Amino acid sequence: MKSIVIHTEKKEVSRVTCRKNVLQRALPEALSAYKEAFVFTDETVRALYGKKVRAALGDVPMHAMPAGEEHKTPETLLSLLAAMAGAGLHRNACLVCLGGGVVGDIGGLAASLYMRGIACIQVPTTLLSQVDSSVGGKTAVDFMGVKNLVGAFFQPRQVFADPAFFATLPPREIRCGLGEIVKHGALDGDIYDTLQANRDRLFDLDFLAEIVPANIAFKARVVRADATEKGLRKCLNLGHTTAHAFELLDGKLSHGEYVLVGTMFEAELAKRHAGGDAAYLDELQSLCLAVLGGMPALPDAVEAARFALLDKKNTGKGSVVMTVPVAKGKYQLLELSGEQYCEELQEIGRKLC
Ligand SMILES: NC(=O)c1ccc[n+]([C@@H]2O[C@H](COP(=O)([O-])OP(=O)(O)OC[C@H]3O[C@@H](n4cnc5c(N)ncnc54)[C@H](O)[C@@H]3O)[C@@H](O)[C@H]2O)c1
Repeated sequence: MKSIVIHTEKKEVSRVTCRKNVLQRALPEALSAYKEAFVFTDETVRALYGKKVRAALGDVPMHAMPAGEEHKTPETLLSLLAAMAGAGLHRNACLVCLGGGVVGDIGGLAASLYMRGIACIQVPTTLLSQVDSSVGGKTAVDFMGVKNLVGAFFQPRQVFADPAFFATLPPREIRCGLGEIVKHGALDGDIYDTLQANRDRLFDLDFLAEIVPANIAFKARVVRADATEKGLRKCLNLGHTTAHAFELLDGKLSHGEYVLVGTMFEAELAKRHAGGDAAYLDELQSLCLAVLGGMPALPDAVEAARFALLDKKNTGKGSVVMTVPVAKGKYQLLELSGEQYCEELQEIGRKLC
């Protein structure tokens, strides 16, 4: 695949490339432009790929955080910054973030802060991070119990997506990435058609390698048009209002699984309140269900709805604003009063669960 270049204000800021053998070839080649490199990863990824990194990059300094969202904290960020300072990194160094979205988000934020900003290359190793989090320059850590409360927009110089990393991913992480891919399908008709045409091989690694480039290209198009989420980029929140509500309340499923659940609920809302195409929305719900492998047990929908009312994307007027799917490749904003949203979620929960 050709590289996708993301410009903001007409200046090239980021290049995303899908490539095989990234660790062996593309990464060493890209790093030859920098005087120093530093690799940030997590312990799981280091155990799987640390030797390959050493074989490709030699004795590069490497810092590994414990794996998992619970470590996406200011403390982890500070320990990374301390390791970078301890290694004596200069302004012209490049930070390589090798891992899933947690590593990418923390590493990107550290690169934006260290000496007021050094170069960063993202090497995403999960499906979710390849099709979503590594593209677009959003970085963050969780703070005071709020997800991604402290962060910055900071574009990586390069993103290298290599499907070979999927070979070691547990099926649950693949399902999690598919959640965001189905969301892209709900926004983009071509991705939707590809998913529907391949319903029997959604978890097949060859199929995933085939669909990653189109998903990256889709996300890059959205980011290019609206890098700092002032308008169009908000469409990427489709399914997420209700997903976050269940996720905050319950937390037993992965983020992508909640996105699939949220998309199912919001598709139902679109049928009832946005004149959505019922036949298409039924089909979209059935695709979500196929990826989920059946409807999971969910917590009380009314309590979840109360959480959604606290969501940071709401208007502050006690109402809930969502991007909902309405027809193939079409979506729109839907605003419901808090009371209406609670009642609807309860009813939809009874219907779907
Ligand atoms: N910046 C953005 O625009 C954006 C968008 C979506 C999500 N996110 C963030 O992304 C994070 C979720 O990312 P994620 O789903 O990649 O989670 P993650 O980074 O926690 O990775 C999931 C698990 O997979 C392991 N792993 C990673 N690569 C592996 C591999 N190749 N083989 C085996 N195991 C591997 C990790 O060690 C971890 O245990 C969240 O913090 C979310 O907020 C950011």
